[in-house]
Amino acid sequence: MKVIRTIKEMKQIVKYLKKNNQDIGFVPTMGSLHAGHLALVKEAKKESDSIILSIFVNPLQFGENEDFDSYPRDEQKDFKLADEQGVDYVFVPFVEEMYPNALGITMSINKRIGVLCDRSRPGHFQGVLIVLSKLFHIIQPDFTYFGMKDAQQIAIVDLLIDELNFPIQLRMVPTVREENGLAKSSRNIRLSSVEKEEAPFLYQALKHGEKLIIEGQRSTNKLISELTLFLQNNLSGKIDYVEVLTFPDLEEKTQIESRVIIGLAVQFEKVRLIDNLIIDLNEIEKRRDDVSNNA
Ligand code: PAJ
Repeated sequence: MKVIRTIKEMKQIVKYLKKNNQDIGFVPTMGSLHAGHLALVKEAKKESDSIILSIFVNPLQFGENEDFDSYPRDEQKDFKLADEQGVDYVFVPFVEEMYPNALGITMSINKRIGVLCDRSRPGHFQGVLIVLSKLFHIIQPDFTYFGMKDAQQIAIVDLLIDELNFPIQLRMVPTVREENGLAKSSRNIRLSSVEKEEAPFLYQALKHGEKLIIEGQRSTNKLISELTLFLQNNLSGKIDYVEVLTFPDLEEKTQIESRVIIGLAVQFEKVRLIDNLIIDLNEIEKRRDDVSNNA
């Protein structure tokens, strides 16, 4: 595995790969790699000839009071994990390489925004769009892999690729979880021992929501209040949001229909955790029909 620090060298490699008709699979990350990131690499290995993984803690997507400085960083461990997983090139630019000057361009988003994480992290997704636009231009991937754990990010990247005509296929990879259901995250190491025990209740709340929907609940407000109560009863963290929206458009509807996302965020003392579940009503109806046909 080769470690690349400069945009110039990365572009030279991309040119070489393109000349040799290699399909490029790209996995953007902020490092501190765990099984969730590695699942993206595994997916990439299935269909791409060359895998490029980027590690860049992007200052633009962190708010003033957020954890940019304390975001966990461990390059050597990341390189070892990426190498073992079969990554061919790891692109690790310094901040000065990516942003040599104050930016003269901003990007704003008008759809799939104003809900979920955008409410409590204003400006975050604009920062994500800028860094990804730069990375997509530098790396020119054929495929790019994102985790469903960050569902709003995927919905917005989907819009970016579609509306700005990036010739890239977006692949959405299911959330990788601990055995207790907690979604793997680089920030989980900052949970206290009590919070570690409470954190799996985020996933249990999502499964509770799914059960209510399977049993016939279609009212968005009822689902939200049930899940809020469930979280309040089981954890000490402050609930940031409980939302039920259409997916991927992220629109609010009073009654749920077709595909919905249940999204949750809880602020613990040092860390804010998010999780979500996508529920397809058509699949639930189909399963119900299959069961009654087989009865
Ligand atoms: P980061 O938080 O490092 O995540 C990189 C990728 O790994 C994202 O696509 C994220 O959804 C995925 N991921 C994280 N935890 C996961 C899990 N438990 N299961 C499956 N996938 C998981 O997301 C970012 O970085 C940044 O915003 C970035 C896209 C790199 C832009 O700076």
